[in-house]
Amino acid sequence: MMKNIAVLPGDGIGVEIVAQAVKVLNCLQTDFGLEIEMEEGLVGGSAYDETGSPLPEATLTLAKKADAILLGAVGGYKWESLDIAVRPEKGLLGLRSELELFANLRPAILYPQLAHASSLKPEIVSGLDIMIVRELTGGIYFGQPRGIRTLENNEKQGFNTLIYKESEIERIAHVAFETAMKRDKRLCSVDKANVLECTELWREVMIRVSKDYSEVELSHMYVDNAAMQLVRAPKQFDVMVTTNMFGDILSDCAAMLTGSIGMLPSASMDKNQKGMYEPIHGSAPDIAGQDKANPIATILSVAMMLRYSLGSEALAIKIEKAVEDVLNQGLRTADIYTEGDKLIGTEAMGDAVVAALKAL
Ligand code: IPM
Ligand code: MG
Repeated sequence: MMKNIAVLPGDGIGVEIVAQAVKVLNCLQTDFGLEIEMEEGLVGGSAYDETGSPLPEATLTLAKKADAILLGAVGGYKWESLDIAVRPEKGLLGLRSELELFANLRPAILYPQLAHASSLKPEIVSGLDIMIVRELTGGIYFGQPRGIRTLENNEKQGFNTLIYKESEIERIAHVAFETAMKRDKRLCSVDKANVLECTELWREVMIRVSKDYSEVELSHMYVDNAAMQLVRAPKQFDVMVTTNMFGDILSDCAAMLTGSIGMLPSASMDKNQKGMYEPIHGSAPDIAGQDKANPIATILSVAMMLRYSLGSEALAIKIEKAVEDVLNQGLRTADIYTEGDKLIGTEAMGDAVVAALKAL
């Protein structure tokens, strides 16, 4: 059955890397019988420039009617001084909340070919395979009240609210336990229950939901320790589940274990497996438009889209295999390059993945 994909390249390198992922989707259509139609929309700073909003109505409508969304990245220096309400990031956060994409899956897998590109010793990271499950539509990112107010003495005060309802914690807990069931059945819930009541409740709910999953071994870790353990002995983790902000921070940290943030895809899902798929890195304005960015995270996000939203595990595996073949050929963008590799640009990396796919 024909599936509809909303393609939202966004800003900065988003445009270049999404173009490579679209090449891969085109190849799946022509050579592997994938039935999709793609429609492009504006989001982020480029949307603001054109329409005055980082999430125009037309884009939201497009995203709502799509079966899945492919997103590049948003943001850039140009829009940093805008009011927070219309900053590019609001476009992304708006999509997440409007579509209720509460479950963010961020796998950190080390390709053996890149063991030497990691900033950690190869023996610490080789074989690394962690899944971070990040709550994505609640917590301090969305909590009210928020703002910057002026006190009586004219001093300004900034404030945000970390807030979670039991039902919000429960639904992300179920996703995390289900994810663990399909893997090594170990789940580590990350909180700051020694200081923050909100995450004391988080821990309580995790323990309650764990009763439905007796096969999964649940552990708890404070976030400061989790950050340390991720760089000390990352292979102790199988699945990690955490709040919106802790997940944002820990997933960047986990990404670097794999050699480059340019390698990591992500899926943001609603309760019906509809998802938005994006690389976890940002728009990298410093290298935008220079054919330097690594498109692999975005291409691997297409694999996640096939797996979770389009029901095609077989094609997902093909993309992952093609990426591995390209790495085996020694082809590298600058972020994963080490001495002796073949340095190539964004376009050439996209073409190489397509060629590898066709050769499968
Ligand atoms: C991410 C990003 C976003 C976030 C930004 C761009 C709003 O850092 O997806 O991790 O903080 O969630
Ligand atoms: Mg982030």
